[in-house]
Amino acid sequence: MERVLRNSRVLVTGGAGFIGSNLVESLLNDGNQVVCLDNFSTGKRENLKGFAGNPAFQLIEGDIRNYADCEKAAANIDVVFHQAALGSVPRSIKDPVTSTDVNIGGFVKMLFAAKEAGVKRFIYAASSSTYGDHPDLPKVEDKIGSPLSPYAITKYVDELFASNFAAGYGIDVVGLRYFNVFGRRQDPDGAYAAVIPKFVKMLMKHEIPLINGDGSVSRDFTYIDNVVQANQLAATVSQKEALNQVYNVAHGERTTLNQLFSTIRSLAGKYDKEILSIEPVYGPAREGDIAHSLASIEKARRLLGYSPKLNVAEGLEEAVNWFRNNL
Ligand SMILES: NC(=O)c1ccc[n+]([C@@H]2O[C@H](COP(=O)([O-])OP(=O)(O)OC[C@H]3O[C@@H](n4cnc5c(N)ncnc54)[C@H](O)[C@@H]3O)[C@@H](O)[C@H]2O)c1
Repeated sequence: MERVLRNSRVLVTGGAGFIGSNLVESLLNDGNQVVCLDNFSTGKRENLKGFAGNPAFQLIEGDIRNYADCEKAAANIDVVFHQAALGSVPRSIKDPVTSTDVNIGGFVKMLFAAKEAGVKRFIYAASSSTYGDHPDLPKVEDKIGSPLSPYAITKYVDELFASNFAAGYGIDVVGLRYFNVFGRRQDPDGAYAAVIPKFVKMLMKHEIPLINGDGSVSRDFTYIDNVVQANQLAATVSQKEALNQVYNVAHGERTTLNQLFSTIRSLAGKYDKEILSIEPVYGPAREGDIAHSLASIEKARRLLGYSPKLNVAEGLEEAVNWFRNNL
């Protein structure tokens, strides 16, 4: 059986968001007391509706940029799962000030409040964007290039702070560099929506998706359950050498945007044949984007025991089904 955290008091920041709400669900199912800190800037109340009324769940509506909110949320917590941040490379190019305030300022406040409260372990959402312009594929944790966006800078700076806090204050930290996560409860709407929920929703409405560039850009798309597994393993790993590290969290499989589009179209087309004839349109490539991304997951396998369960095709099938029933 997989290692999971049980009977602990945990804090999930950004718990009303896509990844955070999936973590909250899993941690509650395993018998933990879960506090969620969120300001609902991109998260949604409906993502929490399954937990409302659960006595093991507590919502603190607050902001990680406010130290008092961080202090309140960190009180009596064993493990923090820090997910709150402003995602999206384009958002950070448009408004680097707010992304920096939240992703660095808020990160340090939450980390310091956790350390002051005596939290044992701080697990945080890092990002594959940290690899920047490094050309190697697959990406290996200790070989990073120059960051290509303000977002990537913020996520790298967080890693530096985490490692400094581990060395200086002795708090255990684990950074999980997520690679393009997808699945249930991911937001399909808005200017900064991720490609998978956006394509699914547009196809279901018979709209024509836009692919940025020629569709040859590739990513290591990672199903949400694999991300939840990595967090659970990071929370429960006991060997010292596995702590104060960063890990790639991915499937280790590369898919181009063109392949992704075709797979989603055939999955959604099973339920609505008209979808099968929709062709995408192509636009300019996006600024700040890495051309190709593929993770080595060897380090997470070796030190955490990570073993992703669903590959891209299997994850997409579950995701398309979920969106069909929930959009
Ligand atoms: N989704 C991905 O593919 C991916 C990839 C790499 C890294 N990440 C990281 O994973 C984490 C979760 O991402 P997600 O996709 O679930 O995004 P999301 O936008 O769905 O969730 C982020 C949550 O943080 C909350 N939040 C934002 N600013 C806040 C603030 N100042 N105070 C309190 N709460 C705040 C939002 O309201 C939201 O609920 C982020 O740190 C993100 O950078 C995500």
